[in-house]
Amino acid sequence: MMPVALVTGPGSGIGRATAVDLGRAGFHVIAAGRHPERIEPVVEEVASAGGSGEFLDLDLASLRSVRDAARRVVASGRPIDVLVNNAGIGINRRGLTEDGFEVHFGINHLGHFALTRELGPVLSSGARVVSLTSAMHHRARGIDFERLRRPTALIGVAEYATSKLANVLFIRELARRRPQVSSYAVHPGLARTRLIPGPLRAISGKGMLTPEQGADTVLWCATSDEVASESGQYYEQRTRLLPSPWAQDDDLARELWVRSEAWSGGAEA
Ligand SMILES: NC(=O)c1ccc[n+]([C@@H]2O[C@H](COP(=O)([O-])OP(=O)(O)OC[C@H]3O[C@@H](n4cnc5c(N)ncnc54)[C@H](OP(=O)(O)O)[C@@H]3O)[C@@H](O)[C@H]2O)c1
Repeated sequence: MMPVALVTGPGSGIGRATAVDLGRAGFHVIAAGRHPERIEPVVEEVASAGGSGEFLDLDLASLRSVRDAARRVVASGRPIDVLVNNAGIGINRRGLTEDGFEVHFGINHLGHFALTRELGPVLSSGARVVSLTSAMHHRARGIDFERLRRPTALIGVAEYATSKLANVLFIRELARRRPQVSSYAVHPGLARTRLIPGPLRAISGKGMLTPEQGADTVLWCATSDEVASESGQYYEQRTRLLPSPWAQDDDLARELWVRSEAWSGGAEA
């Protein structure tokens, strides 16, 4: 039996590269996202690389969609060996999710929080959860919980940074609550993807990583023996680093977890 990985946002960028790499490593990849027309070709690439795959309908901006998707996976009864919480939105996106959360927080953190919790029953013992964060999390000085229910202000730099801090805190707290699962927060580096605004892509030009290079540490955390005994840590370029002081705050991690649990409802992980 092939090991099974679920990757969110596999239709482009780092998620696509991660899905294909996992196919090459012999995984069956559940490719979860909103646009089958973007994701089905990636499922074919996964198969050409030596794995197999399937599309799963998932909109992280809707907790109802997240629950439906997770319940389909749980109902299939297949254990998940690797969960890659990759999907995300960058700056220049504004508004609220279907459930009334600021979009960066709602999609980048809360949707993935709910997905991981709902998948709890099929996350096998020894499974790995890898969440994509960003070095931008250093810009967030804690979390203003009141602001998470208000629409994005300006162009969303602060909101993106807060959501990426939430990703690191989530992985930290997940490691504490689920010691039978190994969890990793990964900054992929500055990679040339749709998430990076066009002007920045133009200025940074050749200095940027390819999506495949961006996926390297993600795959490493998902599969390498070198990190098998670690959990709850933050990585860049295959190196464990200290995240920001706020990302090391256990009380904040706990508060974020408890609030996220109340906001997302659903089954206990
Ligand atoms: N690129 C970088 O330099 C960089 C740096 C640091 C961190 N990251 C992180 O890396 C991750 C991947 O980003 P990327 O750079 O590869 O950008 P990308 O190509 O834009 O990929 C993001 C993916 O997320 C999906 N997505 C967005 N909203 C979604 C939703 N509501 N439901 C389900 N899927 C959704 C998108 O799919 P559709 O829009 O097609 O539905 C897209 O496939 C993100 O978490 C990002 O924060 C990237």
